[in-house]
Amino acid sequence: MGKKIDGKQIALQIRKEVQQKNEAFAAKYEMQPCLAVILVGNHPASLSYVQSKVKACKEVGMESRLIQLDAEVSEADLLKEIEKLNQDAYVDGILVQLPLPQHIHEDTVVYAIDPNKDVDGFHPINIGKMMLGVDTFYPCTPHGVIKMLEAISYDLCGKNVVVIGRSMIVGKPMAQLCLEQNATVTVCHSKTKDLTFYTKHADVIIVAVGKPLFLTEDQVSPGAVVIDVGINRNAKGKLVGDVDTESVLKVADYVTPVPGGVGPMTITMLLWNTIIAAERRVLAGTKNNHCFLG
Ligand code: GUN
Repeated sequence: MGKKIDGKQIALQIRKEVQQKNEAFAAKYEMQPCLAVILVGNHPASLSYVQSKVKACKEVGMESRLIQLDAEVSEADLLKEIEKLNQDAYVDGILVQLPLPQHIHEDTVVYAIDPNKDVDGFHPINIGKMMLGVDTFYPCTPHGVIKMLEAISYDLCGKNVVVIGRSMIVGKPMAQLCLEQNATVTVCHSKTKDLTFYTKHADVIIVAVGKPLFLTEDQVSPGAVVIDVGINRNAKGKLVGDVDTESVLKVADYVTPVPGGVGPMTITMLLWNTIIAAERRVLAGTKNNHCFLG
């Protein structure tokens, strides 16, 4: 029987580290790091995510601003809001909660964020740096997965990693971060022929497809590490991942549970990116608490 990786516990440890960094930052510069979160519309899941982000900031001694815009806001007005935050010398991180309503182009919005404040790590400059192996803001969910593997002292070097899903938020950056750790990486997706062939040969399987209980015991080889990035609700409204956790635990060495696995790590890495952004901006001389554009 495999073990569950306790994402809550690992996240708590890292949050303590972030809190200490924030305290040192506040003592040294008499300012706090500040994250601005923009929510367009009031989709219940997105609202709950941004509220959790704001709450997490408070818990680690970080300032946050929540900007809620009407679902009908024009793309131009949203871009103006982003530009204000780009220019605001106090704000270190800007996050626009995705998905956005259909009439707004997500790419245009993401490209408008100052790359130095792009704590999501979605701006092409930051994605490009990540691909080059240059230190930058890594997307929070894949970065959180890497931190979880580090926490169980799992060395990816030379391992066969299968990533299922190729989104810009998880799959693609996940593959790159594993490659950076010298893993041999295969990215599978909805058009992959014989998925089980790949998963059976994998030391690590990272599933991010958004389909409840998608990966099952028969697709996993003994000793594998299975990371479940999915957050779905089943017919009874209960949270379930993309992995059939209890059955996969019979063969795998490790599985991340849902809830309590990757989920808590994502927000934690957002806090991590925000304190780093603040530190970099102070050193660059671009953060101050005098110029407040409101
Ligand atoms: N929607 C789902 N995950 C994310 C994320 O990591 N960042 C943003 N901005 N939106 C999301």
